[in-house]
Amino acid sequence: MALPRVRALAALLLATAALAAAQSGNSTQEPGTIPVAFEGSALLISYYSGVSEALLERGVVVPKQTPISGLSGGAFTGTFLHLGFNGTDMLEFWKSIIDDCTKTPGGCVGHLNGRMEDKLEKVLPQDAAEQITGVMRIALSQLDASKRDLNDSRSWLIADFFDKADLKSALTATDFIPCFTGDTVYTIFRNHPVIDGGYANGFKELCAGHDIANCIKVASWYVGDKANRTCDPNRCAASAASGCTTTERLTTSLDLYKNDYRYVDQWPLIDVYQRCPVSNYPGLAPNPLPDFVPHNQTVIDIYPGKYGPLPTFNGTETLACEWQSWSMMLPAGMELDAMDVIYQQGYKDGIAWCDENGYNV
Ligand SMILES: *[C@@H]1O[C@H](CO)[C@@H](O)[C@H](O)[C@H]1NC(C)=O
Ligand SMILES: *[C@@H]1O[C@H](CO)[C@@H](O)[C@H](O)[C@H]1NC(C)=O
Ligand SMILES: *[C@@H]1O[C@H](CO)[C@@H](O)[C@H](O)[C@H]1NC(C)=O
Ligand SMILES: *[C@@H]1O[C@H](CO)[C@@H](O)[C@H](O)[C@H]1NC(C)=O
Ligand SMILES: *[C@@H]1O[C@H](CO)[C@@H](O)[C@H](O)[C@H]1NC(C)=O
Ligand SMILES: *[C@@H]1O[C@H](CO)[C@@H](O)[C@H](O)[C@H]1NC(C)=O
Repeated sequence: MALPRVRALAALLLATAALAAAQSGNSTQEPGTIPVAFEGSALLISYYSGVSEALLERGVVVPKQTPISGLSGGAFTGTFLHLGFNGTDMLEFWKSIIDDCTKTPGGCVGHLNGRMEDKLEKVLPQDAAEQITGVMRIALSQLDASKRDLNDSRSWLIADFFDKADLKSALTATDFIPCFTGDTVYTIFRNHPVIDGGYANGFKELCAGHDIANCIKVASWYVGDKANRTCDPNRCAASAASGCTTTERLTTSLDLYKNDYRYVDQWPLIDVYQRCPVSNYPGLAPNPLPDFVPHNQTVIDIYPGKYGPLPTFNGTETLACEWQSWSMMLPAGMELDAMDVIYQQGYKDGIAWCDENGYNV
């Protein structure tokens, strides 16, 4: 008898704390009703697992209630949140995938979705689509099938999911960085060619009703003004070669292409489908790849290093350029350790944001 009573008391205290948090914070809305938007992450995905744990603990996210939107790693995060995963459940899921693909000949590049298929099938409940429809939106970048390049993809937000297979298809489309997540240049969702949501969507597209003010915006790659201070050619050779700058896509469009899906095998775009790795085809479309929509198009609420330095890893303080390079390649031989450190950073930043905004326990 004692245990249930303790649990009930704890639940009551938590509920009271969440209510108090909403009242003492700067939001007049009920806890769990402010929309949350997660950008992409690539391999910095465990940052969002850590942020999720913090937002759950403080009642900022209430599964099946809080409107969540996301692209790529952010889409998985929101989906998992609504399905009742906590931060450590997500971290374990991602670590099992990275552990698996780093041990496989050829590594992770080109094989991430392949490694994910079985695990996703296992962790998603049969009624996953029903559970998240109405509270979750997933952003894709839709391509023009009549061209032979990936430019000018269109913002496509999926809010209704037909069934589990449709949801799986949306998830393995929103994360589709050409030749990185899978071994083709693009993938297919509901008979349309699509790529990673980050190519056509920023926070403006993600936040419900384009209301970026009433939306908690979370990013894992953007590092604020740390980005311009740590371009170290010894520690970040690849990004230092281009001055640690990235070109970004500044105009987006919601106007979807009217692809004729009856003739997929006759699309001009099909010509570039197998063209991986893209570096094998210099001068040929789709080389170079399109630009991502900037992560910094608005003031971001939660991002790495906003509230302090980036974490120490393997005995050294992580540079912003190193953190960003981890998105495409985790530190060799220490991948899982890095994922733990990235998770902890997300948890810390999430808690710091909650403290700042009155979501106290
Ligand atoms: C709450 O107030 C802080 C500080 O004034 C601000 O940075 C933050 O964006 C606000 N959060 C929301 C959800 O309105
Ligand atoms: C997360 O959920 C799992 C069960 O799915 C549970 O074993 C674990 O203790 C939870 N972790 C936290 C930090 O609540
Ligand atoms: C596509 O965009 C890239 C990057 O902005 C650019 O270099 C390339 O010329 C564009 N290709 C076409 C066919 O417009
Ligand atoms: C980096 O950018 C910030 C603004 O984003 C600026 O305040 C700061 O002076 C810049 N630092 C350097 C070293 O350029
Ligand atoms: C975002 O970054 C671009 C350059 O990549 C810069 O021109 C712009 O001022 C930044 N915007 C904000 C809001 O910091
Ligand atoms: C970790 O630190 C050791 C000792 O300094 C170094 O030899 C190794 O290369 C480092 N590994 C990574 C992945 O940073």
